Amino acid sequence: MKKKVLVTREVFDETLACLAQHFDLTSNQANERWSADDLARRLQGKDGVLVTTGDRVDEALLSRCPQLKVVSTVSVGFNHIDVDACTRHGVMATNTPDVLTQSVADMSVCLTLATLRRLGEGERRLRARQWQGTHLKQFLGHDLHHATVCIAGFGRIGQAIARRLRGFDCTILYHARSRADAALEQAVGAVHVTKDELLARADIVILILPYTPQTHHFIGRAELQKMKRSAVLVNMARGGIVDDGALAQALRDGTIWGAGLDVYENEPDVNEGLFGLDNVVLSPHIASATEPTRQNMAMTAARNCVAALTTGAPPNLLNPQVGARVPGMAGQPAD
Ligand code: DGY
Repeated sequence: MKKKVLVTREVFDETLACLAQHFDLTSNQANERWSADDLARRLQGKDGVLVTTGDRVDEALLSRCPQLKVVSTVSVGFNHIDVDACTRHGVMATNTPDVLTQSVADMSVCLTLATLRRLGEGERRLRARQWQGTHLKQFLGHDLHHATVCIAGFGRIGQAIARRLRGFDCTILYHARSRADAALEQAVGAVHVTKDELLARADIVILILPYTPQTHHFIGRAELQKMKRSAVLVNMARGGIVDDGALAQALRDGTIWGAGLDVYENEPDVNEGLFGLDNVVLSPHIASATEPTRQNMAMTAARNCVAALTTGAPPNLLNPQVGARVPGMAGQPAD
């Protein structure tokens, strides 16, 4: 009998075709938003699930789904999945690294420029028919070229952002838990700094670090006060890394000059304080949203699910302790 797999949000036809070759498939192609209870009910009797960042996979859910063997997220970030709880329940957890690196790096530069050049504000004025022609001092912004940019988080995406910024002749600083090796620092032209140096020196701070209990409110009121008044903050990482309430206040008070946000605390709800501000550019968590990249992400997640349920050794396994424990799968190679 075919194993049963659930897909929690709409995916591409190719993704469905890949999964349908192997599994008895149920997919939320209507793209409805499900509550935690809806998800738990729909997961009854399922062996695998493809989730997205809006689906919380925690102890409460897993304890209601004893048959589940794999949770495959269509994302590189996996803070919505309690990986330790998955391990305790013998559930493999997988993600989709690499395939989105370049698109997210592109969008990081895009949102940085949009913020520096007040693109959202200008467009709002123009569409409201309030633009009265160009003049010398309208919508004055800041330059990216030759700016000092600090990238917080220096994994694959952070490094790809640094490579792009070299083309803008930026001074590139980075902050990360562990220092990159010297050859890499030299190759991307980035210098490691402490968090205090990051706050004091950066004209632009780009956040691309993982969200963990340790990085919760990495940027809050105290940090914002240590930044330059002319500084710009860009959050490409996860809501929760920035205290959005403190940020709204800092933008209102002029503590920093501007912000670009692709991610929010409590998505899809956005802190009300941000909506009325002209010095913040808001994008709806779309850093990886190009057609080829999203196709690749979905296909990577599908392949992870297929490998998990056929060999117990998916390529992007976050909890390798589990794969070998799946009955009848130990020692079998991944395809
Ligand atoms: C990721 O992959 O973690 C992105 O944030 C989802 O688009």
